[in-house]
Amino acid sequence: MKPITILGIESSCDETSAAVLRDRRVLSNVIANQEVHEAYGGVVPELASRAHQSNILPVVDSAIARAGIQKQEIDAIAYTTGPGLIGALMVGSSFAKGLSIALQRPLVEVHHMQAHVLAHFINDDDQRMPELPFLCLTVSGGHTQIVLVRSPLEQEVIGSTLDDAAGEAFDKSAKILGLPYPGGPLVDQHAKDGDPERFSFPIADISGLDYSFSGLKTAILYKVRDGLKQDSNFVKANLNDLCASIQHTIVNTLLLKLKKAIEETGIKHVALAGGVSANSLLRSRILELEGNGCKAYVPKFEFCTDNAAMIGIYGHYKFIQGSFGRLDTAPRARWAF
Ligand code: KG4
Ligand code: ZN
Repeated sequence: MKPITILGIESSCDETSAAVLRDRRVLSNVIANQEVHEAYGGVVPELASRAHQSNILPVVDSAIARAGIQKQEIDAIAYTTGPGLIGALMVGSSFAKGLSIALQRPLVEVHHMQAHVLAHFINDDDQRMPELPFLCLTVSGGHTQIVLVRSPLEQEVIGSTLDDAAGEAFDKSAKILGLPYPGGPLVDQHAKDGDPERFSFPIADISGLDYSFSGLKTAILYKVRDGLKQDSNFVKANLNDLCASIQHTIVNTLLLKLKKAIEETGIKHVALAGGVSANSLLRSRILELEGNGCKAYVPKFEFCTDNAAMIGIYGHYKFIQGSFGRLDTAPRARWAF
């Protein structure tokens, strides 16, 4: 059978990415990060759109060149339709549509959060594929969800955050500590040399399988404010312990509901997805769930944070299903599933 070659394009937030996949294998996965936001303590939507605009052509060009293919070999163009920043999405969507007309190849519309889950289905030598059905804890800068995955394209959200996402909790905590954006990876780094029991922060245990992280931010704010009253050097002197304690609290909160979901559904295969799955403590704690029939899956590091390989794999399954996109589809800033 002729192999399926998909070009994936991602532009939902602050990474411009393009990837080429052939039969679920990644031939290339090019990511351009946008450092312009660092100075602002968060992603500035208009600056993101402008950076996507200047990155998209070279990124797509180099993904095709690195894959060693000709443009005509592409069978379909999969692009992030939503959810995300509307201006950022429009850049990727317009580019994908233009290329679809020029190459006369179909489009595939991709849900960014479902694509994070599908990172597990990329055929990579050192990546195990989860057995179906499984529970996926999808944790990113904008979303925190427990997803019941029946098949690659059959996903149901059974729990989600009522306020801040886990990545947002990491980033906002980091901001309070004076760390630059995105703070998640920096909290992870500092936590390695810190004591996770040194400071205690509340774990919000609301009903059902939902999460809440907004109380944590307030608790950290008060802790820092009180600490600074005693010692103006409080944050600097305790940075590692503060980071370790914050990370410990966020990860414990995430695992509390994941364990509850395992009990309630009886599904013992669990997986991580989304940018926060790059977190070292979360990765090791989910692997500790292994045993008693439980199996845990952690995606390869490069497929955790936003990337186009995950958009391409989603495109692969949709291509097989024959579900193609339309030129008049508008990108969607919000998109529940
Ligand atoms: O999935 P993603 O790349 O983009 C969104 O779709 O939001 O996730 C980005 C989020 C950011 O909040 C970032 O701080 C967080 O993932 N993140 C981490 C780590 N690496 C990325 N959070 C904690 N520890 C990390 N190592
Ligand atoms: Zn994402």
